[in-house]
Amino acid sequence: MKKTVIDLLLLENKQLNKDNFLLKLQSPVPVSEIFPGQFVNVEIKNAQEIFLRRPFSVLDVDYKNQTISLLVKILGRGSKKLTESQVGNKISTILPLGKSFTLPNKEDKVLLIGGGSGVAPMLFLAKICGLPTENVHILIGARSSSDHVDIEEYKPYGNFYFTTEDGSLGEKGYVTNHSVFTTNLNQFTKVYTCGPDQMMKAIGRIAIKSDLFCEVSLENMMACGFGVCLCCVEDTKAGHKCVCTDGPVFNVNELKW
Ligand SMILES: Cc1cc2nc3c(=O)[nH]c(=O)nc-3n(C[C@H](O)[C@H](O)[C@H](O)COP(=O)(O)OP(=O)(O)OC[C@H]3O[C@@H](n4cnc5c(N)ncnc54)[C@H](O)[C@@H]3O)c2cc1C
Ligand code: FES
Repeated sequence: MKKTVIDLLLLENKQLNKDNFLLKLQSPVPVSEIFPGQFVNVEIKNAQEIFLRRPFSVLDVDYKNQTISLLVKILGRGSKKLTESQVGNKISTILPLGKSFTLPNKEDKVLLIGGGSGVAPMLFLAKICGLPTENVHILIGARSSSDHVDIEEYKPYGNFYFTTEDGSLGEKGYVTNHSVFTTNLNQFTKVYTCGPDQMMKAIGRIAIKSDLFCEVSLENMMACGFGVCLCCVEDTKAGHKCVCTDGPVFNVNELKW
């Protein structure tokens, strides 16, 4: 799908837990060819002090009904304002932006690791990667059970594991402490991750040491979202790259980790 500035109609705004909301938006035109890892840059309406759009990964696409879902975690004023949008509002977006994850081959066994709102592109990838359920393993980390979002709808697409820092759901600790990661990593042919920087770095460094294919979706601060302002630059082994256009998905071997 060609990059487009488009008004989407808010069909659903559902609070999933204290800070996370699911926004389902309808497009007036077909939304084919949007892939996991790509993002939309959203205008925050009726907030005079917020000039820049805010980037959000695509959580899901329903090609038949022309809808796009986003998982929005309240972090500051922009995300809060967006979660206050009413059903029926028009939301201006630029989409699809950035490069997607490399889709796995049919013989791959994949581990998808999401932290915080980074779970969004992981669920989308699990859903559309086309692998049998036994070859898709999804590890999700959060601070506490109340921070986890409901993944019921995505259960058919993979095997789920959870960690919490306080031990209230799944194994206690960080995702890199989970047994599927510490004892079974070598059974996977590809690892994909999105989440807090420290989490992705910890995973990426282990993948590099283990010579394991690993792609990460960086969440550098952005403004334009399409390669003009240079505010999202990442210093890679091949020099400075714009996360919004050269990424947000990078193979860990490209990064100075
Ligand atoms: C490619 C990409 C995909 C993203 N996908 C999602 C998603 O699916 N769901 C989601 O909830 N969020 C996602 N984010 C993060 C989201 O864009 C920010 O939370 C949002 O822009 C914050 O805007 P704000 O006005 O609420 O906060 P601001 O008032 O702008 O900032 C509040 C605080 O958050 C910090 N902050 C702002 N943006 C970021 C960022 N990108 N990374 C780390 N800290 C930041 C600021 O430094 C400040 O301390 C994504 C970011 C990128 C770059
Ligand atoms: S956000 Fe402007 S160049 Fe990347």
